[in-house]
Amino acid sequence: MANPYMNNPDNTDPGAADRKKDHIELAFQSRVPHHEIDTRFYYEPLLSGHPLTLDNLKLKFLGKEFGAPVWVSSMTGGTALAGTINKNLAKACAEYGLGMGLGSCRQLLFNEEYLDDFQVRKFMADQPLYANLGIAQLEHLIESGDLKKVDQLIQKLEADGLIIHVNPMQEWLQPEGDVFMKSPLQTIVRIIESVDYKIIVKEVGQGMGPKSLEALLRLPVEAIDFGASGGTNFALLELLRSTENREKNYRNLAQLGHSAEEMVGFVNTLIEELGQDLKCKQVIISGGINDFLDGYYLTQKLNLPAIYGQASGLLKYAQASYEKLQEHLEMQLKGLSLAKAYLKVK
Ligand SMILES: Cc1cc2nc3c(=O)[nH]c(=O)nc-3n(C[C@H](O)[C@H](O)[C@H](O)COP(=O)(O)O)c2cc1C
Repeated sequence: MANPYMNNPDNTDPGAADRKKDHIELAFQSRVPHHEIDTRFYYEPLLSGHPLTLDNLKLKFLGKEFGAPVWVSSMTGGTALAGTINKNLAKACAEYGLGMGLGSCRQLLFNEEYLDDFQVRKFMADQPLYANLGIAQLEHLIESGDLKKVDQLIQKLEADGLIIHVNPMQEWLQPEGDVFMKSPLQTIVRIIESVDYKIIVKEVGQGMGPKSLEALLRLPVEAIDFGASGGTNFALLELLRSTENREKNYRNLAQLGHSAEEMVGFVNTLIEELGQDLKCKQVIISGGINDFLDGYYLTQKLNLPAIYGQASGLLKYAQASYEKLQEHLEMQLKGLSLAKAYLKVK
């Protein structure tokens, strides 16, 4: 039977002469030096046909169906552009079957002025949507006996649960930052004991070391979201908002942290060590994920169900227009589907 996907089903190849001319002209510009070869993968050209759809990307994660293993990392809200950005991101989640974390919903706890920017459930069908609060606010809410405000927030947003961001370095460097009176771990344990919605815990761009990861993996949290170093760095961002003198003294703090790849290694070792004590069994690999190849590499390398998340990489397109975001995601997901067919992680 003729292949309906062939460009020239009759095999006449009318463009051959032009193509051969292009090949000769471009051949000298088309050499990849040895040091540029991506050594993360085995390339296996013999073992698959071309994927014709994105069906090979489907998976179940966070208790829901995903069309592809991609997460929109928590970003913005409460500024002029935020409503449009969040709406575009949410629509993309519905169209491609992705999940999304909202940016910090702190403003909504006591004031509904910006509620509209965050109420994106109506655009994203039943795809996973998580509200987001910082550990400092949660510590305060526990102290003041107001934790029920978080329940109300989740209900208002029709969210599936809460992402807790843990960001001591950012808070310390932020001129208007908060101070933690307790360890974030104590606060997280207290929340888990008091609520019945799903919890995801994340950093915001410096990642976490093995002791923090171990503590989280021992808890019944729905997932860990790495927020690793190597991409957007909020310690650096706060320094750029600060004085020249502070920037000079503390720039070294922005260079601390862990890359997503290093964290994958930590988690793989911990899975072995923890055995039956492993309670958290899903990971969102995020922080410095540049493209589908980074995401594919790391999700394959991790020995737990995983998807990959991007913040700034999607923000660029989401703030331009929905069409730009669509175009970008389509290219990325087709690339990911091809990677899945022909690449094996070393
Ligand atoms: C504009 C912007 C706003 C962000 N706001 C939040 C936030 O409110 N809460 C949060 O947990 N993380 C926030 N983040 C951090 C991201 O979720 C993510 O962890 C970090 O940017 C690293 O991912 P990336 O390298 O793909 O950008 C924000 C990131 C960006 C770029």
